[in-house]
Amino acid sequence: MSLLPCMTQKEKVIPMPMTSNCPITDLQWLTSDVVSITMEAGELAETAKAGQFVNIKCGEGLLLRRPISICDVNGSLLTVVFQVKGEGTTWLSQCQVGEELDVLGPLGHGYDIPEGKVLVVGGGIGVPPMLYAAKCCHEADACVGFRSQANAILLDELNAVCGKVLVTSDDGSIGEHGFVNALVKKALAEERYTAVFACGPKVMLKTVYDVAKEADVPCFVSMEERMGCGIGACLVCACSVGGHHKHVCKDGPVFNAQEVDW
Ligand SMILES: Cc1cc2nc3c(=O)[nH]c(=O)nc-3n(C[C@H](O)[C@H](O)[C@H](O)COP(=O)(O)OP(=O)(O)OC[C@H]3O[C@@H](n4cnc5c(N)ncnc54)[C@H](O)[C@@H]3O)c2cc1C
Ligand code: FES
Repeated sequence: MSLLPCMTQKEKVIPMPMTSNCPITDLQWLTSDVVSITMEAGELAETAKAGQFVNIKCGEGLLLRRPISICDVNGSLLTVVFQVKGEGTTWLSQCQVGEELDVLGPLGHGYDIPEGKVLVVGGGIGVPPMLYAAKCCHEADACVGFRSQANAILLDELNAVCGKVLVTSDDGSIGEHGFVNALVKKALAEERYTAVFACGPKVMLKTVYDVAKEADVPCFVSMEERMGCGIGACLVCACSVGGHHKHVCKDGPVFNAQEVDW
């Protein structure tokens, strides 16, 4: 994965989603169940914003595309990192370099990049979108949490684009022992950040939001819901934000944590 700085979000117009046939240029297993795929995605990559996602067709047999966050962009190359879970991601993990993927994107509302330094926070498979988010910020530090050392991913890549990267694990086998919100609390006490960006399990997002709120720092979270169409047409991904039904795919996945009905 190369680590050139990305075009700032402000320089990009809100892109229209497009369907592209994207040849795979690289496929690597990062852990026993997490795969990184880089593809030649042309304009789709060039217009993607941090926090957006793509919807990938996983073989002829599966009707629904699978939503995966954008982990990195380098020119026209786009990288996604995903955990192998069910039929779709298993199919994806078995693709070969040179094969073409049918990709719809970029989709959703990503992170708006503020002035100043941002603290990006990722838990487990929520870490990948934080790489591109950190890269698109003017300055960023990271707090990331994993179950154990065996599940740790993208640390070299984060270290290359962040001022500092604080790591925690549930079993203490890498970084500090404990949960990521403790690290976030410490980081927010030591330094002034203009925003916190977070992605991970909902329970983690809520605890990170609580800590950010206490420190009076705006917090933006990437929410995950089951998806159908990915473009706001099927209502599968509805969630409640500010007392209103929102579509995670179209209005999110990034929301102001203050507005989420936790
Ligand atoms: C906006 C968004 C971004 C995501 N980014 C990533 C990422 O960067 N890396 C990653 O590993 N995973 C990510 N996910 C989760 C990923 O979409 C699911 O793990 C994947 O769809 C599972 O598909 P499957 O066929 O392997 O599993 P199955 O369980 O067989 O899937 C069955 C159906 O449920 C849906 N589904 C299952 N789990 C989820 C889930 N957690 N979220 C939404 N739909 C789900 C599938 O899309 C499919 O339609 C993201 C989800 C969303 C909504
Ligand atoms: S996935 Fe269809 S409306 Fe969001």
